[in-house]
Amino acid sequence: MNMKSQLLAALSCSTLALAAGNGPYDASHSADITLPKHTIYMPNTPPENTTLPVLIWGNGACSANGTLFGNLLTNIASYGFIAIASGAPDGNGQTDVQLMKDALDWIEENAGGGGGKYATVDATRVAVAGQSCGGLEAYQMRDDPRVQYLGIFNSGFLDVGGIGGILGLPGEGPETIEEVKLPVFYFLGGETDIAYPNGMADYEALSGVPKWVGNYPVGHLGTYAEPEGGAFGVAAVNWLSWVLKEDASQAAWFTGGGAEEAGWEEVSSEGLEDLLTFSA
Ligand SMILES: *[C@@H]1O[C@H](CO)[C@@H](O)[C@H](O)[C@H]1NC(C)=O
Ligand SMILES: *[C@@H]1O[C@H](CO)[C@@H](O)[C@H](O)[C@H]1NC(C)=O
Repeated sequence: MNMKSQLLAALSCSTLALAAGNGPYDASHSADITLPKHTIYMPNTPPENTTLPVLIWGNGACSANGTLFGNLLTNIASYGFIAIASGAPDGNGQTDVQLMKDALDWIEENAGGGGGKYATVDATRVAVAGQSCGGLEAYQMRDDPRVQYLGIFNSGFLDVGGIGGILGLPGEGPETIEEVKLPVFYFLGGETDIAYPNGMADYEALSGVPKWVGNYPVGHLGTYAEPEGGAFGVAAVNWLSWVLKEDASQAAWFTGGGAEEAGWEEVSSEGLEDLLTFSA
């Protein structure tokens, strides 16, 4: 190996290490030829001491770039999850909700299978989430019986009327919240977030299910571009650890002042004491 290639190897190693996530299991993303329109984030070595619950993720702008939220999703995976983003790594174009359904079908086919890479994936524990337009896609998964929890990041139902299709947005208005029968966690960006009024209105209108809302006041783009997804990344890991890994110690972050200490504002919740036993 010459000096230049040694240097490059060292650099790419350190880049990988930096991007491996804060959790106990170094993670990264890959593509699978049996799921070519998605990006799969998971621990590099499937851990032996835990199973991997599932996060299905829709990107902001409904972008088909499956690595657009790579910092956030790699970090989530490093805590012992498999996260599947719509769109191939570095992909182009637009997504729709069908890709989320395809990802869940694929999970059902591959989880537990044959002692391979996906043997520890737990297809019975599933959350669906997304940012902005991806959050609207997540909402569209509300009636899929495989889905237990929804996460809405910088999003909320929009009254776009007939132009929804033109904008590439799912055309479901604010009244659609009445059809949501799953626990929902809202991670919004405060008053300067263009989705703030919509997300807050959805939170208020959502009834009969456990719910939480918090605002980290940085606007619509959140902190996803920061290492590990920044404050939104921490919140996402806490949420998923609570709902999918049943780590009850996370309750304190959501209902005991932890979020406020971390800079989240306008935090509110209802029915979270029933969160883990809730069934629609
Ligand atoms: C599994 O092992 C890893 C590494 O030894 C450790 O950091 C992690 O906390 C363990 N996880 C569980 C769920 O016990
Ligand atoms: C996909 O997103 C990543 C992370 O933001 C970015 O580095 C990359 O250039 C994007 N790829 C395309 C094709 O837009």
